[in-house]
Amino acid sequence: MLWIPIDRSLDIPLIKQVYQNIRKRILNGDLQSGEKLPSTRELSSELKVSRNVILEAYDQLLAEGFLVSQRGSGTFVAEGAFLKQRENAPSFHSLNWGEDKNKDDHIINFRSGIPAVDLFPRKTWAKLSHTTWNETSPSTFGYDLPEGRPELRQILSRYLLKTRGVDCHPEQIVITSGATQALTLVSKLLLSPDDLVIIEDPITNDIQTIFKTSGSALYPIPVDKYGMKTSLLPLNKNPKFIFITPSHQFPLGGTLPIQRRIQLINYSRETNCYLVEDDYDSEFRYEGPPVSSLQGLEPERVIYIGSFSKILSPALRLGYLILPSHLIEKCRRLKWFSDLHTPSLDQLILARFIDEGYLERHITKMKKMYKNRRNFLIHCLKTTFSNKVNIFGYSTGLHLIVEFNEQYFSKEILEEIEQSGVKIYPVEEHTIEKGKHPNRIILGYGHLKNEDIKEGVTRLHQAIYDVNSIK
Ligand SMILES: Cc1ncc(COP(=O)(O)O)c(C=O)c1O
Repeated sequence: MLWIPIDRSLDIPLIKQVYQNIRKRILNGDLQSGEKLPSTRELSSELKVSRNVILEAYDQLLAEGFLVSQRGSGTFVAEGAFLKQRENAPSFHSLNWGEDKNKDDHIINFRSGIPAVDLFPRKTWAKLSHTTWNETSPSTFGYDLPEGRPELRQILSRYLLKTRGVDCHPEQIVITSGATQALTLVSKLLLSPDDLVIIEDPITNDIQTIFKTSGSALYPIPVDKYGMKTSLLPLNKNPKFIFITPSHQFPLGGTLPIQRRIQLINYSRETNCYLVEDDYDSEFRYEGPPVSSLQGLEPERVIYIGSFSKILSPALRLGYLILPSHLIEKCRRLKWFSDLHTPSLDQLILARFIDEGYLERHITKMKKMYKNRRNFLIHCLKTTFSNKVNIFGYSTGLHLIVEFNEQYFSKEILEEIEQSGVKIYPVEEHTIEKGKHPNRIILGYGHLKNEDIKEGVTRLHQAIYDVNSIK
């Protein structure tokens, strides 16, 4: 007799329990082709379930081809329903709702670009979500416009003019799933194999990969403490665009002065190329006057990219692209074929969040807190390493750079440092031409509390001391 364990305490209907058990046993070869199954009457009486349960489970297995029925003689396992199981098939664990996947209590991680996600304005967001989900018209639950919700684009164009000097009509904005999707769209919009992209060096690995994926070549221009060294822009080249992070160079932290911005614009006019401006975190500027966007100086040539990942949360996956008008239609089509559109309800919640003044209040609050963390990190570094380090790139954003006088950060040394419970990131990880920044590391502090910052710097100091005393 076929024994099938039935568990009435489960949420799974009995029909499904019987069906799944037989199906699994046929697939893995426990029940072999030609084998006869008990009659529905026998099995129902054996398992103490109603006959209908067995009838429906058999019917489904017959419909899917696992079983065949032969009139008058019974129900049999069909031919060809055995599937050889993969060796080392991955096992899947049960879901752990809300589990912190990045949590490692042991390590203090100075990873850059992570905001203080524990201070995300959950209550306000939940309140606005509730209102939005309840009050929005039914049509919003259908397919939407690839360029995004008009409400969000309108509010953004006003907000960006006021805060970043961005000069655009709402029609020029395409809402994206973060800056990363905006960069991918720009790549698809402008690049063909063998095209040339001029790019800052260092710049994040991810951005290099996105542009290289189109088959383009990267022409790196070194960065100093102000940003791209525009005096090194090449003659006799025809780049498709120049990629820059002028408000806050990633990772070295400079802010591009007006003279270099003008040089960039003149160069782009001469070579007829675009300027792609990535403005990923400049809302958090702690020193000096606020800097305006490059886009405001040359709206017809600059493609401007922004993101809510740092000012709110990377989990929202909300960003935007501002395009010269002649590129809009092609970009709309690319966005449509990429993911149709960014989730509409999230866009509406964000629009309310900005419109009702919550975003500006949140930025003001976070800026104060990040400035405090930054100052504390600088203080810890100075008191711990005194004149052995030079700290720079800290006027904006969520990370800074530490340059060591006599310490190089090879892969082995970084591993040893990690062993001692602190993770740091070398600038070299983001360079195109290798070997120019071997003694510089990036320390992200936005997500770290002061006690972790202090402990992290102490561990780093001890690890460097240990590494050198072993040598
Ligand atoms: C320079 C730069 N641009 C863009 C991004 C991507 O941000 P998003 O989360 O919006 O895709 C990052 C992420 O850290 C970044 O460092």
